[in-house]
Amino acid sequence: MIELTKTGIDGLDDILNGGIVKNSTTLVSGNPGAGKSILGLQYIYNGVEMFDEDGIFLSFEESEKDLRQAAESIGFDNWQQYVDEGRITVYDKQVLLRENDFSSSLELLLGELDDENYERLVLDSLTMFKLFFDTEREQRTYLLKFTDILADNELTTLMTNEQGQIFPETEINLENFLTDGNIYLIQTPTDSGVSRYVWVAKMRKQNIETDIFPMEITDGGITVHHNASAFSMMSENDSPL
Ligand SMILES: Nc1ncnc2c1ncn2[C@@H]1O[C@H](COP(=O)(O)OP(=O)(O)OP(=O)(O)O)[C@@H](O)[C@H]1O
Ligand SMILES: [Mg+2]
Repeated sequence: MIELTKTGIDGLDDILNGGIVKNSTTLVSGNPGAGKSILGLQYIYNGVEMFDEDGIFLSFEESEKDLRQAAESIGFDNWQQYVDEGRITVYDKQVLLRENDFSSSLELLLGELDDENYERLVLDSLTMFKLFFDTEREQRTYLLKFTDILADNELTTLMTNEQGQIFPETEINLENFLTDGNIYLIQTPTDSGVSRYVWVAKMRKQNIETDIFPMEITDGGITVHHNASAFSMMSENDSPL
């Protein structure tokens, strides 16, 4: 029996056929503003709020205060309480860059992960993480080390990934080898604002729905409309392709 970790995000667990495979790493890709950070916040928040699972949020993009404000503005009202209680641990860029060189900071962090009892982790973002290494070889070494430690500690992980174009080139890059699942968040402009979609392209060991589904970001976070395949709802002009 494959154990699943529920995201608790309405509609998303349905298209994932129940949730994310426990102890796996999933890449969440999308263009700026697509909702990657909110998805990460919601995954960690729901872990505590709904499933009694503690989580770690690593952010290279925002400070602990920015994250708190982002969480509260979307209606995750108990975020700070969970942080204070130690149920959510935030490592923001100040903490992650406290040593002179990034690899020393990372070694410290990896040591801390070994001691603690968390079940969920978000890395926001893998794009920034990679920028700290001068060579591809170094990136690869640390990313492998990092994913090994996540697996040893039985963490179920989401890594966000900035994606310029909506659909990636067919080039298979490092992160695709290292991750078990791929979720794309897609945002397209419309006359009245934006339309948002989610596409689960890959989830190892899982029979998933690979259609593209519409999603919304509102107070309370992300909702995926799993009963409506995006293509049946859209006019030709709205096609995200
Ligand atoms: N309360 C809300 N109601 C509706 N939409 C919201 C709300 N809060 C944030 N948003 C929308 O969520 C989007 C921001 O999402 P998020 O920060 O998760 O994007 P991202 O993919 O992480 O972007 P980046 O690559 O820049 O980090 C914005 O486009 C904003 O319009
Ligand atoms: Mg973000």
